[in-house]
Amino acid sequence: MATKTLEDIPGVGPAIAEKLRESGYTEIMAIAVASPKELAETCELGEKKAMDIIEGAKLCADIGGFETGEDILERRKTVTKLTTGSKAFDELLAGGLESQSIVELFGEFGSCKTQVCFQLAVNATLPEEMGGLDSDVIIIDSENTFRPERIIQMATYLGVDPDVTLRRIHVARAFNSQHQVLLVDKAMEMAQDIKCRLMIVDSLTSHFRAEYVGRGALAERQQILNRHMHDLLNFATVNNAVIAVTNQVAAKPDAFFGDPTRPIGGHIVGHTATFRIYLRKGKAGKRIARLIDSPNLPEGEAVFMVTEDGIKDA
Ligand code: GTP
Ligand code: MG
Repeated sequence: MATKTLEDIPGVGPAIAEKLRESGYTEIMAIAVASPKELAETCELGEKKAMDIIEGAKLCADIGGFETGEDILERRKTVTKLTTGSKAFDELLAGGLESQSIVELFGEFGSCKTQVCFQLAVNATLPEEMGGLDSDVIIIDSENTFRPERIIQMATYLGVDPDVTLRRIHVARAFNSQHQVLLVDKAMEMAQDIKCRLMIVDSLTSHFRAEYVGRGALAERQQILNRHMHDLLNFATVNNAVIAVTNQVAAKPDAFFGDPTRPIGGHIVGHTATFRIYLRKGKAGKRIARLIDSPNLPEGEAVFMVTEDGIKDA
């Protein structure tokens, strides 16, 4: 079956298809699950027209089907694990971060979410015997905190060529939430040419939090975040990749949850992430990782350190 294009949606000619693509609706499925209001506004269409397009997209979208447990088991056999650099942290995760999953690292500022991401990026480029994925890495950096200097320090400590490591790490700044969402499409394209088994989104939620303020904006924020999470999960499945995303805990109560220690993004992020890890500061520069939610592992804690050389056991 030939893959369908936007022009296959009833009522969508070349001009509207162009508008849709320019606004980031490059997939029929994205249109099928969009809200009429959102589509009308971003593509400057009437709301009735937007509704018709969405109905049309639903008819021709490939909803997907069911797989047998056996098929899923077969795919799970290809799951590999990425080391964190700390034995204790790896053990908490039964060997490291699993491919085909989203791992959410959440915690307050300075809890070392970004440092863990740097270490994962370096480790992913290592051969599998060293706990790596022998792979390139894509980083979506929404807070402008990527530091090649730290990558060089960590790679040097591991005895690998820092220039080679840096060459395998592809970083894009996300300027706002919509740009962040589009960068996942771009990453999908890139992954057709280069082996990419780790994607990092640091931070997943900061743009969303800054842009969608107040209760009125919450439904829309959660809807877009939901689609974003599913794009990420799709990337993980298609590329047998680990997705690591960071999420700050709200210093001020979130509009959605009164509790200040709850991660931003509410139940959408929480339910789509396969593993949730809460990072916090311990005594004497130590950091504590707590596994909160996992489909197949018990809850527990691990203590690690961040040093100039990277993530290590305490
Ligand atoms: P936000 O992004 O602000 O939410 O914080 P984060 O959780 O991403 O924190 P980040 O990973 O940036 O951690 C910063 C901490 O890492 C610092 O407070 C330092 O304790 C530690 N750190 C960073 N670089 C070094 C280093 O070269 N040596 C050592 N020993 N610690 C470092
Ligand atoms: Mg950070």
